[in-house]
Amino acid sequence: MIIETFVLTPFQQNTRVLACEETRKAICIDPGEKSDELVDFINNNDLELQAIILTHGHLDHIGGTAALAKEFPDAEILLHKDEMYLYDALPKQPLLMGIQPDQMRAMGMEYEPAPKPTRFLTHGEVLHVGELKLEVRHCPGHTRGHIVLVADNERCVFTGDCLFSGSIGRTDLPGGDYDQLIESIQTNILALGDDFTVYCGHGPETTIGRERTTNPFLNGAYLQGRGFSL
Ligand SMILES: [Fe+2]
Repeated sequence: MIIETFVLTPFQQNTRVLACEETRKAICIDPGEKSDELVDFINNNDLELQAIILTHGHLDHIGGTAALAKEFPDAEILLHKDEMYLYDALPKQPLLMGIQPDQMRAMGMEYEPAPKPTRFLTHGEVLHVGELKLEVRHCPGHTRGHIVLVADNERCVFTGDCLFSGSIGRTDLPGGDYDQLIESIQTNILALGDDFTVYCGHGPETTIGRERTTNPFLNGAYLQGRGFSL
């Protein structure tokens, strides 16, 4: 599997290209903003972009969808249906996050409406990218329709803004729910196995084993105090 990471937007979001080495079929996870570097990587490596997959609808994860779809019009645009409340609100999202209108242009956040999705992802479906298989898991909590992608054969998971190295996604924005996020992480991510590599939406990679034992949101008193079992 080819995994290439592009750190984009003022939020330092990890946009990724995943590709099958044998067939050159590829997907892009979370194109945060328009990026020539991203387009050049796909073209220069003879990759065939078959889909743009959005873990969730926050602007730093979807802001480059329109630009990438224009470059690769045959690529599907896929996300969970419960995320449309954010996806459709892309042009207004900076205001919802407290970014003032006169700051939006300077921050590259004057968005056109996001392009229409090709179809919606559902929990449990398996996407085939050449010889790679990616299972979709619905993990609400950071947002309502957040999904993660599990590559069981490669022992890795792409967690968007659910789980970070040493932290978890924020739950104070519209659609966020702390208890739901912890439940999602425990059920759909930690249960995968300690050897899995975790590719996060922000910051460095980690492993499930490391997060299970050292992430302060997932061990010890913090969880117990909120009524979760350890
Ligand atoms: Fe987010």
